[in-house]
Amino acid sequence: GSTADLAGRHVVVSAGGTREPLDPVRFLGNRSSGKQGYALAATAAARGARVTLVAANSALPGPAGVDVVPVGTALELRDAVRAAAGDADAVVMAAAVADFRPAVYAAGKIKKQDGGAEPEPLALVRNPDILAELAAARPRPGQVVAGFAAETDDVLAHGRAKLASKGCDLLVVNEVGERRTFGAEENEAVVLGADGSETPVPHGPKEALADTIWDLVAKRFPE
Ligand code: PMT
Repeated sequence: GSTADLAGRHVVVSAGGTREPLDPVRFLGNRSSGKQGYALAATAAARGARVTLVAANSALPGPAGVDVVPVGTALELRDAVRAAAGDADAVVMAAAVADFRPAVYAAGKIKKQDGGAEPEPLALVRNPDILAELAAARPRPGQVVAGFAAETDDVLAHGRAKLASKGCDLLVVNEVGERRTFGAEENEAVVLGADGSETPVPHGPKEALADTIWDLVAKRFPE
């Protein structure tokens, strides 16, 4: 991947983890640092692509030459990805998106009850599945849509099922572990294709996995 093989392409990458607010000071979130998505954005830019990086709550500096759109919640991420995807050749969803959000946002900080009363159970509502929506709608014909899955057990079986349910072209399955996935500098994955292909990527820098993903995406471009 050292050539400008993505020149003339527009790619959209999501990174980081969404935060779903409960009140002005609290949220439901996850441990994504944004590193894998930022590595995807940086490698695509290095290969000549125009890159839109929809970044959810990442503290990382924006990669050179990449258009960064910061977002907070899953609903904001959906709006930003949709807005950018209209003319995109590929969309890669590396973000960890909350499946649920609090049903109610409290405009004032939630107080604990006096007298040691037990708290109310937290009511949640479902967030839209952004990847599945995009894969079903394909705002641009021939657009390549890829997702990630972070799994803790039976990773390939869960990955295959998730690939089918999301309807995307590629699903990058990474196993949650100490020196990979959330927060780590390195990762290890199997990239599953809707065509039945399986591409194992050995433990290494997140940029190396990113380059392999772009190779597999580029192979699927029409024309
Ligand atoms: O950011 P890092 O610290 O580098 O960590 C990288 C990572 C572990 C976050 C990344 O490699 C990764 O695996 N991202 C996906 C995390 C995940 O568990 O996804 P999921 O199984 O909940 O969702 C599967 C796919 O659907 C993902 O592409 C996700 O972006 C998408 N999704 C999920 C829920 C939802 N409501 N909408 C979505 O689009």
